[in-house]
Amino acid sequence: MKERDFDFQRILAPLLSWYRANKRALPWRENPTPYQVWVSEIMLQQTRVEAVKEYYRRFLDALPTVEALAECEEEKLLKLWEGLGYYSRVRNMQKTAKILLSAYGGEFPNTKAELCALPGIGSYTAGAILSIAFGLPTPAVDGNVFRVASRLETNSSLISDPKYRKYLEETLSKVYPATGKDCADFTQSLFELGALICKPNPDCRLCPLTGLCRAYQKGVQREFPVLPEKKAKRQESVYVFMIETPFGFCIRRRESGVLKGMNEFPSTIVTGESPESVLSAWGITEFEEVRRKAFTHIFTHIRWNITCLWLKTESAPFDAYTLDELAESVSLPTAFKQCLEILR
Ligand code: ADE
Repeated sequence: MKERDFDFQRILAPLLSWYRANKRALPWRENPTPYQVWVSEIMLQQTRVEAVKEYYRRFLDALPTVEALAECEEEKLLKLWEGLGYYSRVRNMQKTAKILLSAYGGEFPNTKAELCALPGIGSYTAGAILSIAFGLPTPAVDGNVFRVASRLETNSSLISDPKYRKYLEETLSKVYPATGKDCADFTQSLFELGALICKPNPDCRLCPLTGLCRAYQKGVQREFPVLPEKKAKRQESVYVFMIETPFGFCIRRRESGVLKGMNEFPSTIVTGESPESVLSAWGITEFEEVRRKAFTHIFTHIRWNITCLWLKTESAPFDAYTLDELAESVSLPTAFKQCLEILR
């Protein structure tokens, strides 16, 4: 797995001093309680730091405690998450909040095994909560940490290999101090180095670890980490119908497929049928087509080629909402939200 042992212990002191001098002021760093670390880490899993900041503030204002999250009405919860995507994350968070209330008195447990047993919490999130909020010596290995560590020791294991994750977690856990603020800072210093310096295109001139970094010394930084091959995305053609009635636009819940359980403008995956035949199956035979527009939306494994049709009709078989309601209280995933542009 590695050419010869790399002494990770030697990165601790220079990385901590670099972090303390260079860290960004981020809202979740102000008061890192387990709840706040958890919320921020779940949001950060698929989303950039800059985009997360505002979502994080809004979420904590609306739902400042585990109890508030457990009791939040679903539509309000989805609205707070609207645009972040991967909605199962916030649904799992609510399930976890309910378990924390019923089994742990609303507090977070402080062992990896107990945390990993909660919905949506894996080794990474558990490590972040334990080290950042509880000050325990438990690493949180995300893409940033794989990038930094694989370059330091020129480790060419695939980052998707569970054995590599296990090896790195074990190796880094020995570098952590026994307890306290240094544990929190060591975890975050690895994130921060990966985010600010040891980026896919690294700024090695600014790095506090060049003296130790084998990839830097050999000039092979860009060969690490070794990523799994990207699979081509499945393509789907989709009609999205913006059905305008005197009461507003029709919205329904998706019953299956990607975004199951989320609101949508009524849509269908196209396999040759005409828009008219789809509408007719919903009982809509009298309508005026105002405009059509093409959009694409990329999910993790699927690319949607959307034909959006805006049409007007007198009555429709789905609930209708005004544009104000859509803006303020009805959640709509980005794939559908972008279709609102057709109205401009
Ligand atoms: N990326 C993942 N977790 C992070 C954190 N806590 N701070 C900054 N970037 C991160």
